[in-house]
Amino acid sequence: MNYTNSLPKIIQGGMGIGVSSWRLAKVVSQHNQMGVVSGTAIDSVVARRLQLGDPDGSIRRALEHFPFPQMVENILNRYYIPGGKAPNEPFKLIPIHSVNMHRLSVELAIIANFVEVYLSKEGHDGIVGINYLEKIQLPTLPSIFGAMLAGIDYILMGAGIPLLIPGIIDKLSALKPVELRLSVEDNPSNENFYTYFNPKQYCDSKIKELKRPKFLAIVSSDIVAKTLVKKASGIVDGFIVEGYIAGGHNAPPRRTEKASSTNIQKFSERDIPNIPKIAELNRPFWLAGGYASPQKLKEALSQGASGIQVGTAFAFCKESSIVPSIKQKIINKCLDGSLDVYTDFKASPTGYPFKMVRLEGTMTDPKMQQIRKRICDLGYLRRLYFIKTSEVGYRCPAEPVDHYLRKGGTIEETLEKQCLCNGLMATIGLGQVRDYGIEPPIITSGEDYSPIINIVKQAGEDYSAKDVIEYLSS
Ligand SMILES: Cc1cc2nc3c(=O)[nH]c(=O)nc-3n(C[C@H](O)[C@H](O)[C@H](O)COP(=O)(O)O)c2cc1C
Repeated sequence: MNYTNSLPKIIQGGMGIGVSSWRLAKVVSQHNQMGVVSGTAIDSVVARRLQLGDPDGSIRRALEHFPFPQMVENILNRYYIPGGKAPNEPFKLIPIHSVNMHRLSVELAIIANFVEVYLSKEGHDGIVGINYLEKIQLPTLPSIFGAMLAGIDYILMGAGIPLLIPGIIDKLSALKPVELRLSVEDNPSNENFYTYFNPKQYCDSKIKELKRPKFLAIVSSDIVAKTLVKKASGIVDGFIVEGYIAGGHNAPPRRTEKASSTNIQKFSERDIPNIPKIAELNRPFWLAGGYASPQKLKEALSQGASGIQVGTAFAFCKESSIVPSIKQKIINKCLDGSLDVYTDFKASPTGYPFKMVRLEGTMTDPKMQQIRKRICDLGYLRRLYFIKTSEVGYRCPAEPVDHYLRKGGTIEETLEKQCLCNGLMATIGLGQVRDYGIEPPIITSGEDYSPIINIVKQAGEDYSAKDVIEYLSS
C-alpha cells in the first residue's frame, strides 16, 4: 500500500462528549498535527449551543456554508434562541435516536457533524479527523455523511470493532445508499436488523461525489487489528493502538482463568498491545495511552509507529471545552499529586471499563449520587433488544431501574451504572437543568497525568494546545 510521508506525528485524540470540540482540533491542525473533533452526541451539543444563543455566531457562520439551506432553517427554527435561554430553563431535548429515525433527527445529525468539522477546518489547510464510537450505531450513517460534506480528512473509530465502516465510507463518497447492521441483545434466532441511509434523499444533484476520508481504527490488540485488515468491508488506513491507561473507555481486560473464577476484573500484562505484531501489518499506526512525552514519542517512532495519540494533556488545555472551574481543580490536583484516576469496570452503560476522576461535586461524589435521580433522556448508549420479529426495544442499564427490569434487563446490570450521556454533557457546561439543580458532571482522564505537570511548568496553568505540541516535539 502506498502511504505518503505527510502523516502527522501527533494526533490529538477525539474526546467526547464535546471535550475536543472544533476550537481545540483547529489549533492542533494549524500546528501541523492532527486535530480530532468528537462526533459523539454532537447533535445534542450543537442543539444546546444554539439554545445558549450561539454567542460568538460560529454555528450560524458554519451554517451559511451548509449546501442545503432548507435543512438549516428547520434546525434554527427549532433550537436557536437569540440571546440564549434563561439559566434555570431546561434545554429542549432532541428526539432520542431509534432504528427508524425521523427526518428531522437525521437532518440534525448531518448538520451538527457538518458544523463541527467545518469550523475545525475553517481558514487553514491542516488535517482534521472526527471520532465516533462503534457502540453508538443509530446516528452513525448520517453523522459520517455530515462530516464528509464538510470535507473531513480522517474518521477514527473505537469502542468496538468497526468492520463495516470502511465500506460505508466508500459508498457514501459515491453517494450510494448504505446500511449498518445493528447489534441486538436477546436475539434468539440472530435476526438481522439494519439502519439505512440514502444520501440522495438529503442532497441535490449539485453534489456528484465526496472526498473519501481515511479510516483509522482504534484497537487495543494485534488480534483485533489483524481481523480488521482481513475482514473489514473496505480499507483500514491505519490504527491507533491504545493501552489501558488511556483516558475515556478502555477495551475490556482479557479474562485469565483466575479472574474468571473470582469474577474480579483487572488489567494485566496480557492487555498490553503487542507492538511488533501490529507493525507487521504494514499500516501506519500511532501509540496511545501514556505516550505524552518527547521520550515516549521517540520510543514510539523507534518501534515503527508514525507517532502518538494524546488525550489527557489536551483535555485540560485552554482550548478544550471542559468548564474552566473543573479544569482548574484538575490541574491543581495534578500539581499537588492528589489526582485520583481509577478504572471503573461498572460505571459505563457500554459495559466497557471507563476511567473516572474522583472529584467533589461530580458523579463520583457520594453526595451527588444521592441527589441525582436516574433518567434516560439523551439515550445515546441505549442498547437494542429483541422484542419480536421486526421489532426491537431500547434500554440502558443507567435508566431508572424499574424501567430497565420491565424491558427484560437484570438488576445486576444496573448496579453502579452512571449516566455518561448527561454527566459528560455537564462536564462541558451543557448539563441539563433538573428540579434538584444541574446534572452532576463526570470527568475522565488518563492514568498518567505527569505530562500536565511538565507542560504547566513550562507554560503555566493556562497552557494551550500549542504548548502541548511544543512540549511533545521538544
Ligand atoms: C476526557 C477524555 C475523553 C475521551 N473521549 C474519547 C472518545 O470519546 N473516544 C475515543 O475514542 N477516545 C476517547 N478518549 C481517549 C483519547 O482519545 C486518547 O486516545 C487517550 O486519551 C490517549 O491516552 P492519554 O490520555 O494517556 O493521552 C478520551 C480521553 C479523555 C482524556
